[in-house]
Amino acid sequence: MRKMTPEELAELFRQNFDSQAEVFSAPGRVNLIGEHTDYNDGFVLPSAIGFYTHVAVSSRGDRTLSIRSTEFPDSCDIDLANPPGKKLGAWCDYVLGVALELARAGIGVRGANLLVHGEVPIGAGLSSSAALEVASALAFLSLEAKELPLTTIATLCQRAENEFVGARVGIMDQFVSCHGREGYAVLLDCRSLGYELVPIPDTVKFVICNTMAKHELSGGEYNLRRAQCEQGVEILSRSYPGIKALRDVTAAQLEAQAETMPPVIYKRCLHVVRENERVVETGERFRSGDLAGVGRLMRDSHRSLRNLYEVSSQELDIMVDAAEGLPGFFGGRMTGGGFGGCTVNLVSTASAEAFRQAIGRRYQQKTGISPDIYICSAAHGAGAELKKAVV
Ligand code: GLA
Repeated sequence: MRKMTPEELAELFRQNFDSQAEVFSAPGRVNLIGEHTDYNDGFVLPSAIGFYTHVAVSSRGDRTLSIRSTEFPDSCDIDLANPPGKKLGAWCDYVLGVALELARAGIGVRGANLLVHGEVPIGAGLSSSAALEVASALAFLSLEAKELPLTTIATLCQRAENEFVGARVGIMDQFVSCHGREGYAVLLDCRSLGYELVPIPDTVKFVICNTMAKHELSGGEYNLRRAQCEQGVEILSRSYPGIKALRDVTAAQLEAQAETMPPVIYKRCLHVVRENERVVETGERFRSGDLAGVGRLMRDSHRSLRNLYEVSSQELDIMVDAAEGLPGFFGGRMTGGGFGGCTVNLVSTASAEAFRQAIGRRYQQKTGISPDIYICSAAHGAGAELKKAVV
């Protein structure tokens, strides 16, 4: 995806709409560990990455929201006095959903022209949708001269995706797109929304390998996993009345109830309970500089996602296996919702370029597909980027 500076986008906007724009930006993310734990009130450890979605905006005199993109030919013109009651099935649903959520929160959105440029690869599990939502929210807020705390913006964008787009996603992506910080991963408690920044040494890179097999979240499997977790909580709460989410269940408690649960529900719960433990341990290992230990936990996470949660794919498994034995490799796993998309690999900085080439060759030999591979570091979220983005 072509990189474009906010200034370049503002210039393109001037050519398209013949007016000055402000540009707001928000990044995609890579999740290092803690997969399918966020909607179980658990822990996650993502980091923002240096692919941003930029939204250029200026107000109009009427009540039309005109949304265009530098990538897609279709544009979208919405009459805000009479907005659609359900999603349009197009990329601009994410923008529209945010506008409608802001209106619901009492922040009326006025007519505006928007031009979107996204650098985050789409359908790769790197949260292009969260980046678009957060950048759009910042753009609308600025038009209304309103400010909201970053965490409120994140939850509002999550609601837009839950309610309007219909994907029952958790809070991880929007949260880290807002709160990410260069050089750090974000250890987030998805219940309290309290977080700690975990320093990532610059001796390692995140090498993100795109299997090129698209992942699609509004597809039913994600929502099905979520429903299975809820079923697990329902069964477990008969024995443990205090529990509200899988976050509240220990491995020993789950084990004791294994016989009372359908096997598939037990497997889903076991993944979540153990994955939460792994996230907390990964934070500790990063802090003590034990990168080999982090790598082991990432491998365990992948195995669990493949065997217990069953959200991996043949391509993801091939890409994960292809990393083994390469110099400088500490560990890797699928990242994001699954069923396609990317793997994330922790690789020493000195070996990252050689790793990129070698894993690309191996994957292509096995699948015939030429993968996109990105060497990334932890980047700033929208909050930290905000001042820079206003032109
Ligand atoms: C998607 C969702 C997140 C999270 C992950 C799985 O990225 O948007 O909320 O549930 O899947 O960890």
